[in-house]
Amino acid sequence: MNRVAVELGDRSYEVRIGAGLIARAGAEIAPLLRRKRVAVVTDETVAAAHLPALTAALEAEGIAVSALALPAGEGTKGWANLARCTEWLLDQKVERRDIVVALGGGVIGDLVGFSAAILRRGVRFVQLPTTLLAQVDSSVGGKTGINTAQGKNLVGAFHQPSLVLADIGVLQTLPDRDLLSGYGEVVKYGLLGDADFFDWLERHGPALRAGDADARLHAVTRSVEMKAGIVSRDETEEGERALLNFGHTFCHALEKATGYSDRLLHGEGVAIGCALAFELSARIGLCSQEDPSRLRAHLRAMGMKVDLRDIPGDLPDAEALIALMGQDKKVIDGRLRFILARGIGDAFVAEDVPGDAVRKVLDEALRQRP
Ligand code: NAD
Ligand code: GLY
Repeated sequence: MNRVAVELGDRSYEVRIGAGLIARAGAEIAPLLRRKRVAVVTDETVAAAHLPALTAALEAEGIAVSALALPAGEGTKGWANLARCTEWLLDQKVERRDIVVALGGGVIGDLVGFSAAILRRGVRFVQLPTTLLAQVDSSVGGKTGINTAQGKNLVGAFHQPSLVLADIGVLQTLPDRDLLSGYGEVVKYGLLGDADFFDWLERHGPALRAGDADARLHAVTRSVEMKAGIVSRDETEEGERALLNFGHTFCHALEKATGYSDRLLHGEGVAIGCALAFELSARIGLCSQEDPSRLRAHLRAMGMKVDLRDIPGDLPDAEALIALMGQDKKVIDGRLRFILARGIGDAFVAEDVPGDAVRKVLDEALRQRP
């Protein structure tokens, strides 16, 4: 088992990463408990695959378990299920000193974390992330929240977990498309700050995809180390944490344009967004054209979506996509804020990006669509 510390003073916690951690969850969580009971919230798909093992592991340590399984999918991350989850936790008589357990992907982690943040003005919670995306990104760093009619993640709170247990064994039941979507966030870490890690991913990514446990352990651990470092230095995104949004400005526009549907999963949009961010960086002379080409070659070798032509169905034109980035016309005609790169492993926040260059990159990518 690997351990990574998120250093946040009296809110510090560990991310423990390894195979078989669900089977050890009782022993891992017991030291945090003031009384031997926990409430677990999960989704129906994860419940079918992993809740019996978690319940057995907790009960083996004498911990009483109650569990709620919500429907699987992004649609669950809204007001209705926030109310359902929070009221269920109250019905379970969860008190301020108790622990809530979030077992699932980013949807459950974000929703249950937010519910824990507002329940009795804040109870502690433990993240048991079961997707690659949740293990390398969403379970670490304390961003919790829900979607509303106005957009994604617009209501929420910073609420750090007390412990994260990332069991890489549970990734065996994750569908390949969801695994690759999470891999989009893994690649992001190499691109934004660790060129050696990107080299390593080029060599070991295919083994990771095929199920190699050592490759998965290393990739999750290195990703979490990078995220933990950034969060420890900039918890509330005053500066450096914005780098974690590498590729996300393009991604958010594409997710909106595809209606947050299964035409484009979040991590797929991140991978395409990273490729576009590199293309933009090359176009304005920050890095060589070899960098976007190398990134695309790796994403292709992994069997991932790489370009706008890989997104099925209609897409709006470049102008409309820029509008979906949340930038108004006045700003578009002027200069835009993006995360760009001087090369692989060297990203930075660029405050002064010419709107015209963004438009040209999108126009070119759209022209390659059938
Ligand atoms: P998800 O939680 O919807 O999980 C994807 C699918 O995989 C679901 O159908 C789920 O039931 C299933 N699943 C989960 N674990 C499984 C397993 N081990 N075996 C089989 N099936 C399994 O989606 P996600 O990709 O994990 O997370 C996406 C969410 O994360 C988005 O809402 C996004 O906004 C959020 N996010 C949050 C942060 C953050 O910092 N808080 C960062 C990135 C993304
Ligand atoms: N996923 C972006 C962040 O945690 O800041």
